[in-house]
Amino acid sequence: MEKKNIDWGSLGFDYMQTDKRYVSNYKNGAWDAGCLTSDANVVITECAGVLQYSQSCFEGLKAYTTEDGRIVTFRPDLNAERMEDSARRLEMPVFPKERFLEAVDQVVSANAAYVPPYGSGATLYLRPYMFGSDAVIGVKPSHEYQFRLFATPVGPYFKGGAKPITIRVCDYDRAAPHGTGHIKAGLNYAMSLYAIMEAHREGYDENMYLDAATRTKVEETGGANFIFVTRDQKVVTPKSNSILPSITRRSLMDVARNYLGLEAEEREVYFDEVKDFAECGLCGTAAVISPVGKIVDHGKEICFPSGMEKMGPVTQKLYDTLTGIQMGRIKAPEGWIREIK
Ligand code: PLP
Ligand code: COI
Repeated sequence: MEKKNIDWGSLGFDYMQTDKRYVSNYKNGAWDAGCLTSDANVVITECAGVLQYSQSCFEGLKAYTTEDGRIVTFRPDLNAERMEDSARRLEMPVFPKERFLEAVDQVVSANAAYVPPYGSGATLYLRPYMFGSDAVIGVKPSHEYQFRLFATPVGPYFKGGAKPITIRVCDYDRAAPHGTGHIKAGLNYAMSLYAIMEAHREGYDENMYLDAATRTKVEETGGANFIFVTRDQKVVTPKSNSILPSITRRSLMDVARNYLGLEAEEREVYFDEVKDFAECGLCGTAAVISPVGKIVDHGKEICFPSGMEKMGPVTQKLYDTLTGIQMGRIKAPEGWIREIK
């Protein structure tokens, strides 16, 4: 298969239309058989539930070319399960896990020419999503839904790749206690747009959200979980019911324990203790692991000893091991890698 003529190394995290996407419609209480289509446009009524009341959820995962030339995805079963959780919380029908995995396989296979080559620094980002598609004017769930999954080749989420970023402590809240912060609902991102644009206008790369109830505990950013490293090399990640259960973060905690022999702890993290950590990073599918060099809290700076030039040593080991597993250089735990045939 011949690859597309794309300058893989200069891709940012942007949308590029690819050849095929998967579509399935839910009507009269059942999903149809689903199929691949070349049509990248969605046509829905002006009164669709997604347009009026934002009834939508989504996922994000990647396909990689391994060192030995296979195309693989990383733990897509966990994305399927998380999308089921999101759907339930939003009164949407569940798109079954087996169907989700089949859609991933079909879309990656049909767009194999867009899967960036091994070593290019780019990957194929997959975006499964679902939305209420029929007319609702009273506040209630739609009766009809569409599940879609498209693919787009991407480079690093933050410009500068693995260079440490600077973030600010945000005065806006991301998720209420007992709200929707733990699911991947589109609405969680709509309300973060003002905060992220304000952060950018002030010269920051991202926002650190604190817990909405007490504003004393670290939650996450708009699109990634936090990992911290203590001065005695323990990996720590915030535990909260209002953050997204990141698949990357869950994987990194396993990597820390089982590959690197480090202690790894998921617990409440108070903002007051952040100044004592040795390293900080953002982790997620899009972010992979993006090192944080500096956090600014209303003019007060926390500068991590790892500095602004490169990742800290433990973050680097986590990054190398995780990407090594994803790219087939390091043996993966059972069930983490799904090969696309
Ligand atoms: N937190 C938020 C708010 C996100 O949008 C994402 C991205 O999916 C993550 C965390 C990271 O999750 P994952 O590692 O499953 O991609
Ligand atoms: C991801 O990492 O897949 C995300 O969804 C984060 C962001 C692009 C919304």
